[in-house]
Amino acid sequence: MPAGLDSRFLAAVIQSVGHPIFVKDREFRFVLVNDALCAALGYDQGDFVGRTDFDLFPEAEARFFRQKDEELFRSEGAVVIEEETVTDASGVVHVLATTKVPLRRADGEVSHLVGIIQDITDLKVAEDGLRAANEELELRVAERTRQLHEAQAELLRKERLAVLGQLAGGVAHQLRNPLGALINAASILRRSALQATDLEVIEIIEAESWRANRIVEDLLSYARIRSPAVQELSLLDLVRSVVLGVQTERTSVALVGAPEVVIRVDPSQVAEALRNLVMNAVEAAGEGGSVEVRAAASEGRATIAIVDDGPGIDESDRRHLFEPLFTTKAYGLGLGLTTARSLIENQGGQLRCAQTGPDGTVFEVELPTAGTGDEPRGV
Ligand SMILES: Nc1ncnc2c1ncn2[C@@H]1O[C@H](COP(=O)(O)OP(=O)(O)O)[C@@H](O)[C@H]1O
Ligand SMILES: [Mg+2]
Repeated sequence: MPAGLDSRFLAAVIQSVGHPIFVKDREFRFVLVNDALCAALGYDQGDFVGRTDFDLFPEAEARFFRQKDEELFRSEGAVVIEEETVTDASGVVHVLATTKVPLRRADGEVSHLVGIIQDITDLKVAEDGLRAANEELELRVAERTRQLHEAQAELLRKERLAVLGQLAGGVAHQLRNPLGALINAASILRRSALQATDLEVIEIIEAESWRANRIVEDLLSYARIRSPAVQELSLLDLVRSVVLGVQTERTSVALVGAPEVVIRVDPSQVAEALRNLVMNAVEAAGEGGSVEVRAAASEGRATIAIVDDGPGIDESDRRHLFEPLFTTKAYGLGLGLTTARSLIENQGGQLRCAQTGPDGTVFEVELPTAGTGDEPRGV
């Protein structure tokens, strides 16, 4: 010890250091601890001096400290512990970074160890918070990227469909006249047919021409969706004319309900959408089946439900209903529902499959009713 520096002086120096410091002898007993250590762990000097880690800390922690102390006395070199935990007097767990160094006597023998502690609890909490925030950010970036990819794919799909629609519409338009001529020619032939076999052949020509005609009509209506020419008109009149237009002998189609409500829509677009839905319902209900078109209005909304008693829609098909070209019919084109939804959404309305099961299916159309009085109107 340099002249003039007695042990009391040195003890005073250790006490004044802000970092927790302790000294242990070769029996692992605390011989000296500073105020900073006492303050950090909530103990007094008296609690430490003469005692070991096993008297103060939980068993698992004490065993770890002991192992490190033994390592130091064996190697006679410094031991650096980057991270360890210690439970203080009130049960709070701290995270510490501790360095233990050997203390040698004048003869060079290691008689004690000195521990210097840095409490890194706050640092760890901040680090964990930062890691969590980082992970959250990465998740959000991944989610956003996925959404962007999806939007891009959807845009591409729409673009391709629009081109396809235009092309198909053009072809359908060209096919319309020759098909009409074919149907007319067949009906002229029918009148002059002499034999039963002739009649059979003519019927085939007619049936197939009508099928081809349906495909052409579906394509055309898909391709020619334009912005709506909105009018105010009676919901009942519109629905009634659709129901009248689709009457068939095979399936009963009835109108239910008579709401007195004025809607603001493009009548030809809504009629076409409803026709598609009723035709689907008729095709599902089949011979002897029945279809109801239920019109109702409440709280500023008009609803039209198309209800059939057909076989319903498989769970696996349901997801694809409104995708273009999805069909389960041998001669279907799969554009009816896509077209109907676009037409209804064109009016600010909604179309959905509300219910389906072995007893039948319900498609529901919701339409905006005429203004509540605060909308601008013509004189
Ligand atoms: N009312 C219904 N009952 C059962 N299945 C239906 C009904 N409406 C539509 N679907 C199913 O949705 C598919 C797509 O309908 P749609 O887009 O109109 O095309 P398409 O009638 O040409 O097949 C149909 O093929 C059918 O499987
Ligand atoms: Mg259809």
